[in-house]
Amino acid sequence: MRSRLSLTVALALLVPVLVAQQAEDTGEAVFAQYAVASDHELASQAGAEVLAAGGNAADAAAATMLALGVVGPASSGLGGGGFALYYRASDHSMHYIDFREEAPGAATAEMFARREGDDEQTAANRSRAGGLAVGVPGEPAGVEALIEQLGSGRVTRSQIVAPAMRRAREGWDTTPLWERFSRWLGESLRADPVFGRWFPRGSAFIPSGHHVDNPALARTLGEFAAHGAEPFYRGRVAREIVRQVRAHGGVMTAEDLAAYRVAVREPLVAEHFGRRWVTAPPPSAGGVTLLASLGLLERWLPPSLRAEDSVYFRHALVESWKGPYTDRHLYLGDPDHVDVPTAALLRGERADQRARVFHPMLAQPTSRYDLPLDTPPRRAARPGGDAGTSHFCVADAEGNVAAVTTTVNLPFGARFTAAGLVLNDQMDDFAREVGQPNAFGLVGGAPNLPGPSRRPLSSMSPTIVFEGDRPILCAGAAGGSRIITATEQVLLFSVLFGDTAGEALARRRVHHQGDPATTSYEEGMDEALVDGLRRRGHDMQSLDHSAVVQVIRLVYGEDGAVTQIQAGSDPRKGGRPAGH
Ligand code: GLY
Repeated sequence: MRSRLSLTVALALLVPVLVAQQAEDTGEAVFAQYAVASDHELASQAGAEVLAAGGNAADAAAATMLALGVVGPASSGLGGGGFALYYRASDHSMHYIDFREEAPGAATAEMFARREGDDEQTAANRSRAGGLAVGVPGEPAGVEALIEQLGSGRVTRSQIVAPAMRRAREGWDTTPLWERFSRWLGESLRADPVFGRWFPRGSAFIPSGHHVDNPALARTLGEFAAHGAEPFYRGRVAREIVRQVRAHGGVMTAEDLAAYRVAVREPLVAEHFGRRWVTAPPPSAGGVTLLASLGLLERWLPPSLRAEDSVYFRHALVESWKGPYTDRHLYLGDPDHVDVPTAALLRGERADQRARVFHPMLAQPTSRYDLPLDTPPRRAARPGGDAGTSHFCVADAEGNVAAVTTTVNLPFGARFTAAGLVLNDQMDDFAREVGQPNAFGLVGGAPNLPGPSRRPLSSMSPTIVFEGDRPILCAGAAGGSRIITATEQVLLFSVLFGDTAGEALARRRVHHQGDPATTSYEEGMDEALVDGLRRRGHDMQSLDHSAVVQVIRLVYGEDGAVTQIQAGSDPRKGGRPAGH
């Protein structure tokens, strides 16, 4: 019950579903040369502007990310972090940059444990708002790494920053999401100098369609244009971050910021349904969960049941998530600090064993899919070591593809700013205590307790799917624990049913995360599907909130050239793609 409540609250805030829009607007636009699909039209345009100037998908991803931080500060920005998955067409190589936030050096496993006199909410809030909630931001280093390691070299950093800086100076109009968030967070936002100036005089909230700007962020972006990430880790911005975090009760130091580095990791790769899936490794749970689920689905869906949406298909989907979400809290954490048994979790024999639990007509309790590993992972730190979210895809004319998910965690992060930046509350993605849920209802496990320089587990799942050696799909999502199931469904709808980007986004989704034992489904889902699942014993709960997925689908002609780039921005948030 406890986790169900926190999940409901988090999702209600994170991902408003504008269901009414779905009928009229698929969120899809089709391009021939290049495309950016983000959850805000102005951010998509920022990326497209850099592509038009000769930049590649990495340059455009950097520009899109910076612009998202300006126009969608409830979801992401330079005070947060994320993951970037990149396909470089020139040598068919895959790249993965982990710019996830890190816990400060003074973090301890007990820092969010309930204290004497705490009620449940006070304890939970410590990792969700205020200074202790803030992880060392990774996004400045992530944007810089994208430009330096994967950028074309044909556009300057100033050109990449320009659309975001212009927008921060000249302003933009707020969306309905702002009104919803600010009505809820009202007073706690108003005290901050940046958020405070966005409230019209006498108003308790920021209305939709209100023109706002952020000159403090424009100045900070100017420093990024001139000096890259350096000022954020050692200069004026770093000093301002430390000052504000400590003024709000946090423990971050100048040394924590100076020590931050992006982690370059190997993405996870597996063949399923005749395609190659490349996706996020730990500290995201996204890729492990996605691939484990696909492995089960392949066993449960004979070819004759793969071609269309059906009760059986949705039943198999829901059943496929129960075990992997349980693995998450038992075995997953930051691979630089705990042993994460990724290979053991994805072994074929393990999938065979779990697959035998499945009943085609009957929902099984999550516990039946629990499959302890033969050799429990070592949980201790190695010696010497220690929806506010946004996803977008970029495809450029050279064949490069970028899938980037970026986040400040909950809306407006820790609810205060430094140097114009919204500071994240990513510390809530750690386990507060073993067995306690985070804001998304995800149960905390020992491998994910906070500790010095650790990165919290994530659900972010930037994924690129290949057919042969050609990328055919790029997707990812915002929406906490639902990121993984939403990303997987949109990709499967396209791979199995042949959906266009817009059709895949329009289809209603289901979700199950092991605990609570409910299957949630989106309003507007075919009643026959809902009834069929209920008859199989699923505890069906209707939701009017869901994850927000951005997707790009690449269509090839017989000569092997791309003939269509279908770019889809989820109508659930009202973004728009841009391109040429
Ligand atoms: N903060 C959302 C996630 O990383 O899963």
